[in-house]
Amino acid sequence: MLDAGLNTNAEMMGGTATRMTALRSVETPKPAISVVGLGYVGAVSTACLSDLGHRVVGVDLDPVKIAAIGAGMTPIHEDQLGDLLSAGVEKGLIAATDDLVQAVLATDVTFVSVGTPTAADGGCDYSYIVSAAQKIGQAIRLKSDYHIVVMRCSIPPGTTMKVMVPEIEKASGKVCGEGFGVCFNPEFLREGVAVEDFRAPPKTVIGASDPRAAQMMSRLYAPVDAAPIVTSIETAEMVKYVDNVWHATKVTFANEVGRLCKPLGVDSHDVMDIFVQDTKLNLSPYYLKPGFAFGGSCLPKEVRAVAHIADSIGVDLPLISSLGTSNSAHIEAATQMVKDTGARTVAVLGLAFKPGTDDLRESPILEVIADLMDQGITVLAHDMAITRDTNIEGQLSYVAHAAPGLTKVAKHLGEMLTDTADQAVHAADAIIVTHANDTYRAAVKNSFKPTIDVVRLFKEEENQALVAGIGW
Ligand SMILES: NC(=O)c1ccc[n+]([C@@H]2O[C@H](COP(=O)([O-])OP(=O)(O)OC[C@H]3O[C@@H](n4cnc5c(N)ncnc54)[C@H](O)[C@@H]3O)[C@@H](O)[C@H]2O)c1
Repeated sequence: MLDAGLNTNAEMMGGTATRMTALRSVETPKPAISVVGLGYVGAVSTACLSDLGHRVVGVDLDPVKIAAIGAGMTPIHEDQLGDLLSAGVEKGLIAATDDLVQAVLATDVTFVSVGTPTAADGGCDYSYIVSAAQKIGQAIRLKSDYHIVVMRCSIPPGTTMKVMVPEIEKASGKVCGEGFGVCFNPEFLREGVAVEDFRAPPKTVIGASDPRAAQMMSRLYAPVDAAPIVTSIETAEMVKYVDNVWHATKVTFANEVGRLCKPLGVDSHDVMDIFVQDTKLNLSPYYLKPGFAFGGSCLPKEVRAVAHIADSIGVDLPLISSLGTSNSAHIEAATQMVKDTGARTVAVLGLAFKPGTDDLRESPILEVIADLMDQGITVLAHDMAITRDTNIEGQLSYVAHAAPGLTKVAKHLGEMLTDTADQAVHAADAIIVTHANDTYRAAVKNSFKPTIDVVRLFKEEENQALVAGIGW
């Protein structure tokens, strides 16, 4: 801990031109934290971490923000922020400076919340991260203590380890995980209620380079979240993007429902008030794991119906109307993976659109089979609920204007079916499996054949050389 070493502004800055506001000596067992970038994220972090009793040194390039934070005033409009900042300065817990190297030297942990604007090519502008990382590295070179750098920016997965860490390693001459630790700790606070959210976070996610860094960050967040989620840095980076894309999807979906409802004379708020009450299927983890394409007798039909209604009344619903296109892309990805194995005979395990039914209507695997047949590939198939006696004809008439795959495959389905999964697997060069059950798990495991697994039969590392999924 560096608490004892940092007593006054002048002492810390060594009389340089750096502007750090007065910082009184405070004995605290909590790690001292530097926060780089005092914008919306950094200002809230500075205030809330000091409120938890940490000594915090805020760093920015903008003299106006430095002056404001150093004087205990908020540079942005955010509920409760001004009160927390003035209390922090009053207690001698908050200081602000433009000298990042000195701030790192005077603290144990550095939070990075510099801007990551959109670059000219539409990607992420890393320049602020790179320049901050270089300074942090210069400081770590001078430190003997283990320092933790916590990335808080929203950045593409891989950026922390591939952009920030190499800069720190180069400037410090130390190795990540040994000389210093790195975490990615995404920021989920909503502007306007950020302080409230900090105290009662929706979740705390800590991606860490090593257990020591993870442990230290978990302890830091313990007062507001006793059970943070510890994961890899890349997963934590992706979680932040996925969360925001999900929120955007929800807003867009609700707005499309509104645009559809109004001309139909339906109250969209009545509809969505009922929609959100279903926490079993609608607002739940259900349907939210990457797997195979949607299918069956309802989803594709109703998505088409809604898109058709919108079209017929001149309402543009780009999200809902593109669901079928995305689903087809997923089916094509599976087909391509099977073709890429080079197999001339393929075993299909699972034919119905989901396990536990013999319903073949718009089952996406039938589109895959139709495509393979077009390539002259022989298909052998097994399904726990389908036999040669299953009434395919009845199902066919129901989807006369959809599901071309079923129409084509239906005639040959009887010839493709094997009595057991092992029989299909034994005679095949490659496998595609669409239902998860122990029989198929065992058949795939014992086969040692290339397998396209669209349901994630195996979570463990084993079989990875031979078993591939679409989304993992
Ligand atoms: N605003 C939000 O609600 C929010 C929420 C979650 C995540 N994020 C992410 O957090 C990051 C910061 O967002 P923000 O809204 O606070 O940005 P911001 O633009 O308000 O603040 C960034 C600050 O970083 C400073 N800065 C840039 N380079 C610096 C350097 N080398 N040294 C010191 N300071 C430097 C800038 O002067 C600026 O004050 C972004 O990656 C953003 O995507 C933002």
